[in-house]
Order: sequence, then C-alpha cells, then structure tokens
Amino acid sequence: MKFYLPTKIYKGRNCVVENKEQLLLGTRAYIVTGRTSGKLSGALADVENVLNSSNISYAICDRIGNNPTVEECFEAGKAANEFGADFIIGIGGGSPLDAAKAIAVYAVNPQMSPMDIYKCDYPAKPLPMAAIPTTAGTGSEVTQYSVLTVASEQTKRSFSTEDTFYKVAFIDGKYTEKLPLQITRNTAVDALSHLIESYTNTRSTEMTEYIALKGMRVWGKKIKALTEGVFTSEDREDLLWASTLGGIVIAQTGTTIVHSMGYPLTFYKDIPHGMANGMLLEQYLANAEKTIPEKVDLLLMNLGVASVEDLGKILKSLLLNTYTFTKAETDLWVQSTVKAKNAVTCPFSATLEAETDIFEKSLL
Ligand SMILES: [Fe+2]
Repeated sequence: MKFYLPTKIYKGRNCVVENKEQLLLGTRAYIVTGRTSGKLSGALADVENVLNSSNISYAICDRIGNNPTVEECFEAGKAANEFGADFIIGIGGGSPLDAAKAIAVYAVNPQMSPMDIYKCDYPAKPLPMAAIPTTAGTGSEVTQYSVLTVASEQTKRSFSTEDTFYKVAFIDGKYTEKLPLQITRNTAVDALSHLIESYTNTRSTEMTEYIALKGMRVWGKKIKALTEGVFTSEDREDLLWASTLGGIVIAQTGTTIVHSMGYPLTFYKDIPHGMANGMLLEQYLANAEKTIPEKVDLLLMNLGVASVEDLGKILKSLLLNTYTFTKAETDLWVQSTVKAKNAVTCPFSATLEAETDIFEKSLL
C-alpha cells in the first residue's frame, strides 16, 4: 500500500494570517487567481497583507478563467519566469489551482513547448506552491493533478507528478462564504464524486477508504443545507473539509469513469464540472451496486441516504439540469471516454455497452 501526501495542511478560521510564515515559500511570489475569486473571497487581500508585511515582492496573474487551456498557462509561466518568481500562490477554485501547477512547471522550464507538460518529466523541478481554495469541490490543493483544456484535442487532459503537489494548503471556509448557491452545489457534488469514485475505485486502500467514508459522513450531514440553500459558517467549513478529504483520496486512487465521462459534457456543452459528474453518479452507482454491493451499502449509510435512487433524487434537486442531449452526441462521446485511462479502475467492466447505458439512462 502506498499513501503519499506531501502537502502541509492548515485548517481553520484565519489560518492564512495565523500561519503566515508557512505561506512564504520564497522571496518573489507569483499569485495565480481567477478573474474574481481572489478578490471576492477575501483570500487575495489576506495574502497581499501577509506578503506586504513580510516585504515579499509579488506579481498577480488574475486572468485564469474557467477551464484554463494549456496555452494560457504557458503564457502565464513565461510571465512568472520574466518576473523572476521563486514560488507560486494559487488562490481560487479548481481552475486557478490547477493552472498554478502548470505555471509552476513552465516558469522554470522556458525551453519546454506547451504540450511537453504531458511528458510529466521536467528538466527543472516546478516552483514550490501554496494553495488557498475558495470553492469546496476541487480538492486540487491536496492533489498532484492538473486538468487543462487542450483545444487541439477537443477535450481536457490531466498531468501529474509527485512534484506537482502543493507544499502547503490553507483550508478556511470563510473564503467560500460568498459563493453563489449554484456554484456551491455544483462544487459540493464534485467533492462527493471524488469521495465516491475513490471509495469504489479498484485502487482503494484501507487508508483511502477510511478517509473517504469520513468525508461522506461530513458531506451527508450537509445535504439539508445544500437542499435548502442556507449555509452557516460551520456548514461552509465542513463542505470545504469534505472537499479536501476528497482530494486526499483521489490523489492516491485517481477518479474513475464518472470523471472521464463528465469531461465531454463540460467540453461540448459547457456544463460545469461538478454538475456533469452529478448527472452521471446515480447510474454509475447503480452499476457499481451489482459488483460491490457491500461497499455501496456502506457509502450510502455514511451519507445517511437510503438508496442509490434516493441519492439520485437529491442530486437532481441540487443540479440545475436544463440541458438536452441526443443519442448521436452520446454515441460519439463514448468512443473516446471508453478509452480513458481511469476506465481501468472502475469497479465494474467499463465496456462500450456499459458506458453507453450510463450515458443513455443519465442523459437521454
Ligand atoms: Fe472533479
């Protein structure tokens, strides 16, 4: 069994300011954040205060939008290199946190071409990175994965190495308090998907299963808040913790076919990542229940949900599914999703027929 998590985790209200020396991984910081996430969450202001009071120079890249492309990250990496950055601070949801990992690689490897990132073997080690999540879903702050859009291949592709983990992550629910309701729900469903896909993954271990079940217990207690759309500070803290726990376990096991089948929904229909996963989860679990019934029972028990069907109803109520799909679309997508590398770790045989059935029952 292997369990590798090189990220120091600080959790709790005001953990950035209270552990400010931990944020200082160098002397010149390149801050990677979204167009609004850093400012709206209050995280950027906290980081700037810490850097200013410590006389650390910094530059801010705040143009990372949803679903960042390889090319965007390459350009930002060049800018970080020109600035002479010696560490990176990622602030935001999955998009800036994933982009920051690529930028940390490009910044010290200017001779690389954009697509070289997928070789996962870089002449110089990526810059050290600190993460401050402002959504509760991605778990990117504790994973080695970075999922970027490759326009030329018309899909998203991930890269990862043991050096693309963040050195330190600050988990403070207050940064998620201003998130709009639908983003809160979509990202929460992404976190749930990570917990479920890791727990049911053929690579799961005693350690990951223990953490995933704990994450599901935390998540399950927030179903009421998610359904009603009213959140206390404690709810925000707990949803963020469930997301971090989800990240910790997928860093070990990877995800499985819910994620690979969700990517075309995001790429072709612009469906938010968490929502895309949520549309497929019920049918995924209905299949998993046939091969690993005890595990599916235990996960439902930890979520506090009676059946896979009931979980499906909860997911439908959380997701704003106004999309329509055609059989021609799903038949096309399944041709590539069935070849995805995480189909191998599915708890049932992820054949063309099985994935077609999941797509059709979920979307048509
Ligand atoms: Fe995800």
